[in-house]
Amino acid sequence: MMDEFIYLNGQLVRGFEARLSPFDHGFLYGYGLFETMRSYNGHIFRLDSHLTRLRCSAESVGLTHSVLITDDGKQSLKAACVATLAANRLKDARIRLTVSAGEGDMTPDPRTCPSPTVLITARYLDPLSPEKYETGFKAAVSFLRRNSQSPLSRLKSTCYMENILARTTARAVGCDEAIFLNEQGYLAEGSATNVFLVSHGELITPCFESGVLPGITRDAVLEIARTSNIKATERWVQLNELIEAEEAFLTNSILELVPLVSVEGRIIGTGKPGKLTGDLLFAYRRLVEEAVK
Ligand SMILES: Cc1ncc(COP(=O)(O)O)c(C=O)c1O
Repeated sequence: MMDEFIYLNGQLVRGFEARLSPFDHGFLYGYGLFETMRSYNGHIFRLDSHLTRLRCSAESVGLTHSVLITDDGKQSLKAACVATLAANRLKDARIRLTVSAGEGDMTPDPRTCPSPTVLITARYLDPLSPEKYETGFKAAVSFLRRNSQSPLSRLKSTCYMENILARTTARAVGCDEAIFLNEQGYLAEGSATNVFLVSHGELITPCFESGVLPGITRDAVLEIARTSNIKATERWVQLNELIEAEEAFLTNSILELVPLVSVEGRIIGTGKPGKLTGDLLFAYRRLVEEAVK
């Protein structure tokens, strides 16, 4: 594994050659951002959207180095992602682009970090089994709350500890995913997924103000709904609405759309993947096929 190719600050190097500074503020203070992307047949799905999200997030946290926020920078990151995939001779992969404030002083002051760290890794992706799409995911509601007022709730930041703690706790009780409510008790998102539910035939997902990551897959699902004349609404959602929904599903770039069949042991709908969920997953895969051919 350590001889895989890794892109680090402008160069493709072997894993065993890659060196990160012990004074990297991403490591010391979690001052960093990342994107997880999926490639199909050698094409990274919605790479531009991932890079646009990264740019907006970088600007919002003061990571304003040109490689992160200019069009030229975006093009070079794009080329670097493609090159990392190709160097590892991968077609279906998980690609991770991580940026941090970079090396600085031993104080949490980003002004001491002259240039960011940019790291790209790509590994073969063993997709979720078809059986799991048939049985669906079970979720537990986390004891941790999303802070909808915090800018971090809308960023894919390397401060991922709450997400990990929530998911670990959910897994300990036999669940696949943890669901976060926000500080006001409204539904926010999963530990690594956005949440959708279907009620009276209408597709509903928590609005950004609830404290959710603007997911690339969430966006694609809303786009499919628009073009298929499926009524879709982004709004504040109560946990009860999820429990009482006709169907529900979770989204992210790796899982695509995975049915959600229970929350806190309460069965959603029939306890089986719903019809609209299946139709949307089919449409999403068509969208992917079109994009990567
Ligand atoms: C907290 C959180 N919400 C939502 C998502 C889904 O985002 P995307 O569809 O861009 O993968 C992720 C992805 O990992 C995530 O970490």
